[in-house]
Amino acid sequence: MNGVERPTEESGGRVLLRSVRPYGTGDPVDLLVENGRIAALGADLDVEADRVVHAEGAVALPGFVDLHTHLREPGREDAETVESGSVAAALGGYTAVFAMANTDPVADNAIVVEHVRRRGDEVGLVDVHPVGAVTAGLGGAKLAEIGAMARSSAAVRVFSDDGHCVDDPLLVRRALEYTGAFGGVVAQHAQDPRLTPGAQAHEGGNAARLGLAGWPAPAEESVVARDCMLAGHTGGSLHVCHVSSAGTADFLSWWRSRDVRGRVSAEVTPHHLLLTDELLETYDPRYKVNPPLRTDDDVRGLREALASGVIDCVATDHAPHAEQDKDCEWSAARPGMLGLQTALSVLVRGMVRPGLLDWRGVARVLSEAPARIAGLTDQGRPLEVGEPANIALVDPEGEWTVHGTELAGTAVNTPFEGMVLPARVFATISRGRVTALDGKVEPRGGRS
Ligand code: DOR
Repeated sequence: MNGVERPTEESGGRVLLRSVRPYGTGDPVDLLVENGRIAALGADLDVEADRVVHAEGAVALPGFVDLHTHLREPGREDAETVESGSVAAALGGYTAVFAMANTDPVADNAIVVEHVRRRGDEVGLVDVHPVGAVTAGLGGAKLAEIGAMARSSAAVRVFSDDGHCVDDPLLVRRALEYTGAFGGVVAQHAQDPRLTPGAQAHEGGNAARLGLAGWPAPAEESVVARDCMLAGHTGGSLHVCHVSSAGTADFLSWWRSRDVRGRVSAEVTPHHLLLTDELLETYDPRYKVNPPLRTDDDVRGLREALASGVIDCVATDHAPHAEQDKDCEWSAARPGMLGLQTALSVLVRGMVRPGLLDWRGVARVLSEAPARIAGLTDQGRPLEVGEPANIALVDPEGEWTVHGTELAGTAVNTPFEGMVLPARVFATISRGRVTALDGKVEPRGGRS
């Protein structure tokens, strides 16, 4: 569905992945990739291959799909580019990312989205799908050129003003109607701006102690409720970005129990699954993010909602920032955190280790569900013969210490700095080609 199809076939030749465990179950098998697809799957395959990847014990999962990545190109290439973000994505196990529209200029027209898509294709490490803005210039006053972006060679299907809430309910209604006509999705940054003037942190005791203006949870919950009703009324598709409050999850659970028109989906970020506003006491802007880190109860509620399927998927909200925008006092710092290279490990720590999700569940929330929400037909597919070879191999025993300076790109703003995290992406195969192996990317036309 996602318009202009990329060729499935890549020039990776025949690649044999030795001794992997699809979805972490059963005895190890070999997996042969040829012409961009899974060509054979079985124990001790006796085949010739151009390349053999010894992956003993690795868990094989469908390549990850991120519905929420900030790539900063055009405009803030000092923080991230399509290329550096693609590197981070490949290293993180991703085979497709959706690049948010809050660039400079804003991705609210065909020219910008075509540029982003073209750059993604040129880099060739991961499928880069541009997200189009819902409103012109993210201004919230009139709709962007949604049709032109959908019809462009970037074939945009996901639209979002992320970073800003589309506040006017009439515009949300129109956007749902319009995108619904061609199978598109409106991804809402749910946050009533009138309830969050000057907000700097989750509204609660920790923010109050530091004298920071609060982001109350109902600012999110009330917009989600309103927009679900508009999706039901119009029959359009609504996707709720970065759910941060357990109250939102409760509402979504109730909404999904009803028989309504329209389609509602939701994502949660890795950081909202692990971190809380207790970190405010460090006064370290690396923990500043929008929506904010909230309470233990919220983390618990979000984990349960992800496990039960009330929240469909994990999306990183990967938000690289240049040093001068982050390494300053809290109120001046930009909100946002790196996420592409740590998402899998954080999910394992927050969900797999506590027994809330198994590897099949990881495949569901990192790959299958986001591909379905965005209408991608070549991602999030089962690991079976004949399917596109978009694969992430995970070393389940790998432990590593996160250091921002060792992550891809120039930005270092990880909230997991110094943490020892479990599980590591060992290799990524995108369209049949090895794009990352053992911590190094392999650009098209040569290994590096
Ligand atoms: O923390 C955030 N940073 N939240 C957003 O919604 C936008 C993002 C950014 O663009 O930096």
